Amino acid sequence: MLISVIGCGYLGAVHATCLAHLGHTVVGIDSDRELAARLDAGRPSFYEPEFEPLLAATLATGRLRFTGDPAAAAGAAVHFVCVGTPQLPDRPGADLSALDSAVGALLPYLNGGELVVGKSTVPVGTAARVAERLAAAGSAATVAWNPEFLREGHAVADTLRPDRLVYGSAPGDERAVAILNEVYAPVIAAGTPVINADLATAELVKVAANSFLATKISFINAMAEMCEAAGADVTVLADAIGRDARIGRQFLNAGLGFGGGCLPKDIRAFGARAAELGVHRVADLLDRVDRINLARRDRLVELTADACAGDLVGARIAVLGASFKPDSDDVRDSPALAVARELQSRGAHVRVTDPQAADNARKRSADLTVVDTVAEAAEDADAVLLLTEWREYRELGPADLAGLVRHRRVIDGRNVLDPVRWRAAGWSYRAPGRP
Ligand code: UGA
Repeated sequence: MLISVIGCGYLGAVHATCLAHLGHTVVGIDSDRELAARLDAGRPSFYEPEFEPLLAATLATGRLRFTGDPAAAAGAAVHFVCVGTPQLPDRPGADLSALDSAVGALLPYLNGGELVVGKSTVPVGTAARVAERLAAAGSAATVAWNPEFLREGHAVADTLRPDRLVYGSAPGDERAVAILNEVYAPVIAAGTPVINADLATAELVKVAANSFLATKISFINAMAEMCEAAGADVTVLADAIGRDARIGRQFLNAGLGFGGGCLPKDIRAFGARAAELGVHRVADLLDRVDRINLARRDRLVELTADACAGDLVGARIAVLGASFKPDSDDVRDSPALAVARELQSRGAHVRVTDPQAADNARKRSADLTVVDTVAEAAEDADAVLLLTEWREYRELGPADLAGLVRHRRVIDGRNVLDPVRWRAAGWSYRAPGRP
């Protein structure tokens, strides 16, 4: 099949590459010509394990290319729209300007029965609006919505072996379903279930999934507050409740909470849309989830101040981790950077390090000191904060840092270190939700 993928950020670049890997002929189009040229040369603009080798191998087949020219969409039977839908600058809703521009750029190249498939995360009702716009422009193209559930750090595996495929289409539009089945034939043959829905349900599935994950994290973080008040241990609590198959252990890691380019903006956009539709209980629930999450950052700052005898002014703080989660160089809404900035604004001397996100951290937070190694960050530190649980940080032992720091104080913002081991080695160990 000849397919175009419009928007080649994280989602689009991986989607285009995986579709070509599955055997289709794919052109990825992005209005950022430099980004498209880089991808076409096999150089992604983000760190994602597994992606770069797959990109190189797939470009070499000749079935994949990237361009900044929207005319390259001409002739494709299916157009996937994968543009970003970030938070509006002044409100919690989603900014749909990139989606509107992508549809506008595509319109001149729609001449027949093409299928326009949205993958971007959007407020419910957007797909119907896109369909109306195409119809108003006299286009015979149809619209489907096929939300994406890939996680950063697992993007290739999640695209090629997803838990499920969700197709949203207009009632009775069997052609859209048949085309999507053809696009994903090898994925379906490998056993992936397909769930068919109407357009609105498919749009809601995505935001409901992210909202559930965010709620699960905020739930366990609320339990962490309870554990602190009661002298209990949230990690043991999570292990114990997670054994119940109805609850499940995943996404019950208490600590600094969630960040990134998806969960925070998606719960806010969903809350805003719910309020627009008069569903205030959903808006209230998500507002609570957001507030619990943001309070984690304050709690980490408090724990650090406590560890430094209440005085952050002049304290030397090592921050391990800048990305919003491990195996990613993404620093958008990174809890680790938010804590680092707050400590600095309270007078601490903060040094941040990260195995992959150091450059992005420097770009995003020019006022922070970002160093390349743990040793540079920890030198003479009054406290070491583990804020993103990269494997190399989880595997650190007390002896690795003991000779570097000024005071043996560690704050385990992700609950991944062994308190018994660190305390036995003479460290003061603190973590949110643990005694
Ligand atoms: C999230 C969803 O997991 C994907 O399914 C979805 O496709 C994606 O958003 C999206 O909408 O594009 P992602 O943002 O890559 O994926 O990251 P997650 O793995 O969900 O982690 C989000 C945040 O939650 C991270 O900051 C992580 O540190 C935090 N987290 C996760 C916790 O604090 N505790 C946990 O137990 C799990």
